[in-house]
Amino acid sequence: MFRFLQRSRIRNLQTQLVLIAVFLFAGSSGLKIGESCGSDNKCDAGLSCQTCPANGNTRPRCSRIQPLNPTSKVNGLAFNRYSWLTTHNSYALAGARSATGSIIIAPMNQEDVVADQLKNGVRGFMLDMYDFQNDIWLCHSAGGKCYNVTAFQPAINVLKDMRSFLDANPSEIITIFIEDYVTSPKGLTKVFTASGLSKYMFPVSRMPKNGGDWPTVDDMVQKNQRLIVFSSKSSKEASEGIAYQWTYTVENQYGDEGMKAGSCPSRAESPAMNTKSRSLVVVNYFHSTPNRSQACADNSAPLLSMMKTCYEAAGNRWPNYIAVDYYQRNDGGGASEAVDEANGHLTCGCGNIAYCKANATFGTCDVPPISPPPPATETPSADQQSPNNNHASKVFVGRTAKLMQWVVVVLATTSLFA
Ligand SMILES: *[C@@H]1O[C@H](CO)[C@@H](O)[C@H](O)[C@H]1NC(C)=O
Ligand SMILES: *[C@@H]1O[C@H](CO)[C@@H](O)[C@H](O)[C@H]1NC(C)=O
Ligand SMILES: *[C@@H]1O[C@H](CO)[C@@H](O)[C@H](O)[C@H]1NC(C)=O
Repeated sequence: MFRFLQRSRIRNLQTQLVLIAVFLFAGSSGLKIGESCGSDNKCDAGLSCQTCPANGNTRPRCSRIQPLNPTSKVNGLAFNRYSWLTTHNSYALAGARSATGSIIIAPMNQEDVVADQLKNGVRGFMLDMYDFQNDIWLCHSAGGKCYNVTAFQPAINVLKDMRSFLDANPSEIITIFIEDYVTSPKGLTKVFTASGLSKYMFPVSRMPKNGGDWPTVDDMVQKNQRLIVFSSKSSKEASEGIAYQWTYTVENQYGDEGMKAGSCPSRAESPAMNTKSRSLVVVNYFHSTPNRSQACADNSAPLLSMMKTCYEAAGNRWPNYIAVDYYQRNDGGGASEAVDEANGHLTCGCGNIAYCKANATFGTCDVPPISPPPPATETPSADQQSPNNNHASKVFVGRTAKLMQWVVVVLATTSLFA
């Protein structure tokens, strides 16, 4: 009887260990970057399960959709010493129907709403604003006029989401870039007032006009001036106190013309990239016609490469805003990685904000041993993986193997006793 009990208890233990082993191999909630994922496997917070067939990556794996908080390592610097993830046409939600009830025939650039973009750390928003139906609407239109089939929704909806976010997150700062087609008198002022955002506006009078540093983020937070708004229309600065973008920023060419490797020309409205009297640098990297399946490839290695090209073109200045389509799409690290790299250079003199040491001297970095992009292709065995991915996968395989060894040893021991 006693022996039997003992045996069944050991069997129980064995069953549990086998279950643990299966669990380890199958993966579990809390999958790390680069690990294989599927319908039943959940990636850690800040990651999503995706593939990138445009790059030949067909293995679903956990990929980043959130940058690190730019102020998490070094706080208190001037605003222009940080880089912010920015969405191009933030409102142009794939698959959306117009709030007029009409279908939309305009190109679409993102796949989550602004409220969710905010949760994922997006802090720059490019919004096209038009007079439409006696209100201000977000439209992706042509010829300066909005139609039902190009009208997404009234701007106030999105502005209210931003206000809720700023209310709930008292140390966060947001920037809006308005592609401004509004001609109604005080049209922008009215919609910003109605949304409750006006109280957060950073005043034009405090924006540096000769290449000086911006106030510090601490100062902006303390004064509760946490919303920067730029308009593409110069007249709005005098008429409504809304800053004319290219008095304060330089910006590279958008669309296909801005994606030619090795060159980073300024867009027509912007001063030359290396104009140091503009303290903020905006880098666009997206096609003229958005392409969701191509975005993961664009937002990865080519974006990082363009960021370096633009750094040089801008007179050795890292971008303060990195603007992309389908910001979540990437092949490993993507736009989040680009923002983290820019923040590393800007805030602590390291190649990535992850390597910054809190309160350390500029340039003192803590480079972790494992930081390569995770493996890309779906392969039956570890040997066939591409060389630059081997390191990360071997580390993971090694870790799992060690745990398995332990499980096997315990299983063998308990079998002996049984
Ligand atoms: C546009 O949508 C509105 C409803 O918001 C509708 O009343 C109007 O007839 C539509 N216009 C056209 C041209 O379809
Ligand atoms: C979109 O990108 C995919 C993947 O690179 C490509 O096969 C397709 O031709 C592109 N579509 C357009 C319209 O350019
Ligand atoms: C860094 O400095 C700040 C302010 O002096 C302090 O509150 C914080 O604890 C320091 N962090 C570390 C990790 O030393």
